[in-house]
Amino acid sequence: MERLDKIIASQGKYSRSEVKKLVKAGLVTLNGAVVRSSDVKCNVNADEIIVDGISLNYKKHIYIMLNKPKGVISATEDPAQKTVIDLVPPALKRAGLFPAGRLDGDTTGFVLITDDGDFAHRILSPKNHIMKTYHATLLRPLTAEDVVAFKEGLTLGDGTKCLEAQVRMLPDRENVAEVIICEGKYHQVKRMFASLGNRVVELRRVKMGGLDLDESLAEGECRELTAEELELVQC
Ligand code: URA
Repeated sequence: MERLDKIIASQGKYSRSEVKKLVKAGLVTLNGAVVRSSDVKCNVNADEIIVDGISLNYKKHIYIMLNKPKGVISATEDPAQKTVIDLVPPALKRAGLFPAGRLDGDTTGFVLITDDGDFAHRILSPKNHIMKTYHATLLRPLTAEDVVAFKEGLTLGDGTKCLEAQVRMLPDRENVAEVIICEGKYHQVKRMFASLGNRVVELRRVKMGGLDLDESLAEGECRELTAEELELVQC
C-alpha cells in the first residue's frame, strides 16, 4: 500500500502539489468514491484510481523507443546541448528517465529510454548477449579478412579486446555494413572499423535485441513500447 498522491505523481503527468489540488477539487476517485485526503493509502494492483475523469492506468516503469537525430546527446541533462530526454513528450515524461545505452552525438537511430535500472542493466550487460545492430556507412567496403577479424574478436587501437561480432555488407546499400555487437564500449563500432584501417562515415542503430527501430518514427520522435516489443528487446 502506498500514498495515493505519490502513486499519481509517479506516473509523470502531475506533480505532488498538482495532485493535492486535484484532490481538493474532488477530481480524484478511488474505487468510485471521491478522495478527500491525498495521503490515503491504496494498492496500485487492485484499486481503481481515476484522475480528472481519466483512469490512472498505473505502470511501474515506462519503456520508450526514440529515433535519435544527430546533434542530440545521450544524457539525462546538459546545460548547453539538447539531450534524448528533452525529446520525450510530456505525455511520456516522468522522473528518473535515462537512456539505456549511449549513442554518440553524431549517431542516429534506436535509443531506449526507461526509468527501470534493472532492465537497463540486463540489456546492456555483455554477459546477457543482447545484440545491438548498427548500419555503418564506410569509407571503403569490407574485405573477407575484415569479416574474419570481427568474428574472431577485434583488438582496438588502445589494446582493448572486443567480443566476437558479426559484420556483412548490405547487398542493396552502397558501402553500408551491418554490424551486430553485444557490448557497448566507448565509440565501439567506429573504433572497430578504425582498427582495420577503415572509417565510419555515418552510423545508425537499427535494432536492439530482436526489436527493429520503428522506421515510421521520424527522427526526434518517440513512442512507448508494447509489452510484446519489450520482450523482443530482451532476446
Ligand atoms: N559505436 C560507436 O562508435 N558509436 C555509437 O554511437 C554506438 C556504437
